[in-house]
Amino acid sequence: MQKRTRFMGAALALAVLLVGTSSLFAQVQVTDCMACHNDTTVITEKQTAMSESVHGTGEAYVRGTSAGCAGCHSGGAFSAMVAAGLTPNTVEAGDPNPTRQSCRACHQVHTSYTEADWALETTAAVNLYAFGELTYDGGKGNLCANCHQPRRAIAEPDADGNIAVTSTHWGPHHGPQSAMLLGTGGAGDVAGVPSFHYRLVGDTCVTCHIGADSSHTFEAVSSSCDECHAPEEDLESVQAEIAAQIAELGDLLVAKGLLDEAGHPVVGVYPAAEASALWNYIFISIEDGSLGAHNTPYTRALLNASIAALQ
Ligand code: HEC
Ligand code: HEC
Ligand code: HEC
Ligand code: HEC
Ligand code: HEC
Ligand code: HEC
Repeated sequence: MQKRTRFMGAALALAVLLVGTSSLFAQVQVTDCMACHNDTTVITEKQTAMSESVHGTGEAYVRGTSAGCAGCHSGGAFSAMVAAGLTPNTVEAGDPNPTRQSCRACHQVHTSYTEADWALETTAAVNLYAFGELTYDGGKGNLCANCHQPRRAIAEPDADGNIAVTSTHWGPHHGPQSAMLLGTGGAGDVAGVPSFHYRLVGDTCVTCHIGADSSHTFEAVSSSCDECHAPEEDLESVQAEIAAQIAELGDLLVAKGLLDEAGHPVVGVYPAAEASALWNYIFISIEDGSLGAHNTPYTRALLNASIAALQ
């Protein structure tokens, strides 16, 4: 009796397996694979471009082994986070086998096994978790904002009006570009507003960093600016102006002892205005990295206020 039950169980399992397999075969045709795996460069041109991008070559993916870093630093953990409806600060486990930000992190590769799998992993609006319910809603650029958002806002001043710089890694963390576009994330009494580039450029990050030719180096594409203005003149003069202000602020911070010669924050307790100036220096020069391109008025306002606070 027992033997017969076991036999029936095995036969049933085999039947389920056969039905399952044949229906999979019915759904997926070899010709579906050929939409992508063919003699065109549809995959290889992107792989080549990615070999020039830190998404494809960088070393920061190894941070994905920790729960607090996995959602942004491991491509696999990012996909799992999106599927589970979590955010980078609520991921509970590290990824023991982290991957870079590869094709599978951003696209739904091998989900339906058809061309529809180029669809993006997510384009839902992103609540910037360091700022309560503040929402980044920039079309397809929302994909990027999931990871390119600050991890922290600056602390409130204590009863004596001071703010502690708690470590040499103090600051908003790398990649706060979405907050910069929204005109937030800086420190001190500077009001920012969402930039023209956030409000007018459809698909935000994706329009400027991928562009009409689908570049996968993820560098800003100058042809994407042509629709609205001559890029080079504007960009070069604005970036030169911002770079000069950053250098001036850096010198003032070193002179006051908040920044060391190597550009690292000096741990200590400082008056709020000075700590805010240090925060803004890190936010703009080290972390945002666009030298004003993302939000020129907000960047200028933060630098002006920070320089004034130290003079
Ligand atoms: C939407 C386009 C697309 C379709 C359709 C597609 N693939 Fe892929 N495939 C990819 C991409 C992208 C990669 C990963 C390339 C990389 O990592 O650089 C890949 C990788 C692979 C690999 C290498 C191993 C791996 O998993 O990374 C194999 C094998 C493969 N595909 C087989 C198939 C088969 C079989 C089908 C059809 C049943 C199929 N693919 C359908 C895009 C596609
Ligand atoms: C899964 C998280 C994630 C997503 C999604 C993501 N990025 Fe990144 N990005 C990173 C990480 C992590 C790095 C740094 C990698 C390293 O250094 O190893 C990075 C680096 C970059 C860099 C290089 C920065 C530098 O200092 O050289 C650019 C530019 C960039 N990303 C743009 C984008 C754009 C545009 C998008 C959306 C199309 C995007 N990223 C989507 C996590 C992500
Ligand atoms: C909200 C997403 C997010 C989380 C969470 C996150 N990071 Fe990052 N991290 C990024 C992005 C985006 C970049 C790339 C920024 C750029 O280059 O503009 C980055 C870059 C880095 C870099 C590379 C800096 C460089 O220039 O080489 C290090 C190191 C790093 N992160 C460490 C960590 C550690 C450690 C944790 C966990 C304690 C962590 N990150 C959590 C998004 C995140
Ligand atoms: C950081 C995120 C990111 C990574 C990594 C990435 N892509 Fe993309 N890819 C995008 C975005 C965003 C678009 C623009 C999508 C759109 O406009 O609908 C795109 C567009 C494409 C397109 C054009 C899609 C279409 O519908 O015509 C192809 C093909 C493509 N990617 C292939 C790849 C391959 C292959 C890899 C890996 C070698 C890869 N991508 C890695 C974000 C990414
Ligand atoms: C209006 C176009 C535009 C939009 C929108 C935009 N960027 Fe940029 N971004 C730029 C330009 C221009 C630079 C400066 C490039 C340079 O100096 O070579 C830049 C610089 C950067 C850098 C610094 C690293 C590098 O490649 O030099 C990162 C990272 C970045 N952007 C990510 C993003 C992300 C993520 C978003 C969306 C949240 C975004 N950008 C939205 C145009 C844009
Ligand atoms: C959808 C339209 C649009 C696109 C696309 C666009 N911009 Fe802009 N940009 C604007 C508007 C509007 C302003 C604000 C008005 C002004 O100052 O000219 C602006 C302002 C700027 C500024 C600040 C000028 C200043 O002196 O304050 C720079 C720099 C800039 N853009 C560079 C770029 C670059 C580089 C690209 C492409 C990577 C780009 N823009 C793409 C519309 C656009």
